[in-house]
Amino acid sequence: MRPVQFPQDFAWGAATASYQIEGAYDEDGRGMSIWDTFVRIPGKVANMDNGDVACDSYHRFREDIALMKDLGLKAYRFSIAWPRIFPEGTGELNQKGLAFYETLVDTLLENGIEPVCTLYHWDLPQSLQDAGGWENRDTVDAFAAYAETLFRSLGGKIKKWLTVNEPWCVSFLSNYLGQQAPGNKDLQLAVTVSHHLLLAHGRAVRTFRELGIPGEIGYAPNVTWMEPYSSRKKDMEACKRENGWFVEWFMDPVFKGEYPSFLVKWFREKGAKVPVLEGDMEIIHEKIDILGINYYTGSVAKYGESAGLMACEPVDMGYERTDIGWPIYPEAFYKVLSYINGRYGDIPIYITENGACYNDGPDKGIVADQKRIDYLYKHLLQLHRSIANGIPVKGYFAWSLLDNFEWSYGYSMRFGLVHVDYDTLARTPKDSFYWYQDVITTGEV
Ligand code: NOJ
Repeated sequence: MRPVQFPQDFAWGAATASYQIEGAYDEDGRGMSIWDTFVRIPGKVANMDNGDVACDSYHRFREDIALMKDLGLKAYRFSIAWPRIFPEGTGELNQKGLAFYETLVDTLLENGIEPVCTLYHWDLPQSLQDAGGWENRDTVDAFAAYAETLFRSLGGKIKKWLTVNEPWCVSFLSNYLGQQAPGNKDLQLAVTVSHHLLLAHGRAVRTFRELGIPGEIGYAPNVTWMEPYSSRKKDMEACKRENGWFVEWFMDPVFKGEYPSFLVKWFREKGAKVPVLEGDMEIIHEKIDILGINYYTGSVAKYGESAGLMACEPVDMGYERTDIGWPIYPEAFYKVLSYINGRYGDIPIYITENGACYNDGPDKGIVADQKRIDYLYKHLLQLHRSIANGIPVKGYFAWSLLDNFEWSYGYSMRFGLVHVDYDTLARTPKDSFYWYQDVITTGEV
C-alpha cells in the first residue's frame, strides 16, 4: 500500500504519567497519594507491585529526554503529581516538588520538545481522600487552587494543558467497579465523583481564563466504541448506552452544559442521582480549546441483561487481542472520532493516548515487537482517514514512551516504545521505537 502523509505541523508525541514512571515516592517532600495506599492493600495490584521506584524517571528524566530527542518527538505529555506540589493536597506549597517540574519543562524546551501537561492523572493526595476524596466538594476547591499554582508558575512555558485524565476511570472504574484506587463499589459514589471531577475541570478552565494564561486548555476523556451486533432495537440501545457512558456522560456537560437525559434516567432507575447544584453546569460548560482523546479498544456488542451496568455485552468476533486481552478494532477508532466530531463540532482533537500492550523482552539487545508496530500502523491509518474526512486531529501521543507501572496490573503489562528492565532500570528502545522514529521523520505511515 502507498504510504499516507500526515500534515506538516502534526504534533507527534508520546505520553506518560507521574505515578507510573517517577518513583521517588518519598523524596523531596512528596506527600502520599491514594495509589501509595492502594498498592499496599493485598490483592489489589498484581504481584503487590508498587510505584515506589517505577522507572525512576524522577532521577533519570534527562536520560528519558535524550531518548525522546532521539525518537524525534515534537511533544511530550506528562502529568504532575499533586502530592509533590501540595503534600497534604492543600495548604503549604512544596517548593522542591515544583522545582522538579520546572526543571523537567525547561529541559524539554531546551531540547525542542513541547511540554503538554496533565494536571490530574490519578494520584490524589491521601489527605484529601481521608476527607472524602472526590466525593467531597472541597476537593474541587483544592484542585482549583492546585491548578492555579501551576498556571502561575509554569504558564507561558507550557502551552497545552489537560485538566483531568480519563474521568470515566477516576469515577466508575475506581468507585463503582473498584478496580483502581480508592477501590470503592458504589454507584451513587461513582456518579457523584464524575460530577465533581467535571466541576473541578471547569473550575480549572475558568481560573486559566481569569489569569489570562497564554496557551490552550482541555481534558482527556477515554472512549471506546461498541458497534451493534444487529439492528435489533435492544442491541442498538445497549451500544448507545455503553458508548454514551464514555462519550456523552463526560462530554455533553462540557460541550452542551447538560447531562444526557437517557443516562440520567438509567442511573436514576438504579438509584443514583447527579448532585448538581445551582451554577455547576455553567462552570462545567466553560469553553475549552482542545479535546484530548484516549482510545485503545472497542468491540461488536449486543444487549445482555446481566452484562454490566449498561447491559451491553461484547460479542467475540475473533478479533486479535493485545497481551492485556483487549480486542484490536482500529476501525472503531475512526467511528468514535467521527461520532465525537459529528456531535460536538470542530474542536481541535489531540489523541492523548493510543497504544498496545505486548510483553516482548530484549534478546541480544533487540526487542522485536512487530505486533505493536502493526497495532500502531493500523490505528494511524484510521487516524489519517479521520483527518482526510475533515476531522481536525492535530496530534498523536503514543502510550507510552516507557514500559511502566500499569495500575492494577503492576509491571506485568508493558505498553512502552522503550523497554525498561525493572531490576537494572536499563532502557532499551524496541523495534516500534525505530519504526515510530521513521514515521515522525517522514510524516508518513
Ligand atoms: C489509560 C491511562 O491513562 C494510562 O495511565 C494507562 O496506563 C493506559 N491507559 C493503558 O491502560
